[in-house]
Amino acid sequence: MTLLTLDAIGRSFGAIQALAGVDLSIAAGEVVGLMGDNGAGKSTLAKIIAGNFPPSSGTMMFDGQQVAFARPVDARAVGIEVVYQDLALADNLSAAANVFLGRELHRRIGPFLLLDHSAMQQRATALFRELKSETRAEDLVRQMSGGQRQAVAIARTRLADARLIIMDEPTAAISVRQVAEVLALIGRLREAGIAVILISHRMPDIFETCDRVVVMRRGRKVADKPIAASSPQEVTGLITGALETA
Ligand SMILES: Nc1ncnc2c1ncn2[C@@H]1O[C@H](COP(=O)(O)OP(=O)(O)O)[C@@H](O)[C@H]1O
Ligand SMILES: [Mg+2]
Repeated sequence: MTLLTLDAIGRSFGAIQALAGVDLSIAAGEVVGLMGDNGAGKSTLAKIIAGNFPPSSGTMMFDGQQVAFARPVDARAVGIEVVYQDLALADNLSAAANVFLGRELHRRIGPFLLLDHSAMQQRATALFRELKSETRAEDLVRQMSGGQRQAVAIARTRLADARLIIMDEPTAAISVRQVAEVLALIGRLREAGIAVILISHRMPDIFETCDRVVVMRRGRKVADKPIAASSPQEVTGLITGALETA
């Protein structure tokens, strides 16, 4: 089932044409690697899908409906979530509190509405277990490894019932062992039928994890093919322009 379809998406910033004529379709449970040199338009494309700003031209369909997001909450409302590179977590709060940040659970005692810490702890624990992550709900995020922080950010999107998760360079700043943990998490999202767009410069991440690879160059899509039909050498050529298209 096709979840997201982009048709001839363009975006300019003043005189800069950041994107031109980008078509893309993603099915439920599909993991698509989005690659390209700095300035190729990857983040701009991600931000359009996530509702940060509209495209200058082109149309977008999600789950069979034409969509035009005015704000990120509009995209979130249909199940599109982003895990940002800087992760935007609150260091001084627990993993559970971060998972529920902005959507806290409450319980009522007489006239008082109190935070329901134990319900949030239990739900967060269940999410980490589902993700097979060793992250503990009660631990402070400040004390966590990069991989555990990713698990917290991903658990947040699971809570929101995400159907498409965009990850912009999730493994850029973490250790090798933690990279494996994050890639395993992506595999778990796929098993749950969630579509993932993985933006990365790391060729091994893309080739280990993705079903398809999409390469952008100077705002245009220059390749979109099954991962099994491509190779790191070919993708490198496409990124640099040594190869025109593939
Ligand atoms: N808010 C903005 N204002 C002006 N130019 C921008 C803005 N965002 C991106 N650009 C330009 O659009 C192009 C694509 O950028 P970007 O999508 O960030 O590329 P990537 O994520 O692939 O490195 C670049 O030339 C960049 O300078
Ligand atoms: Mg970027």
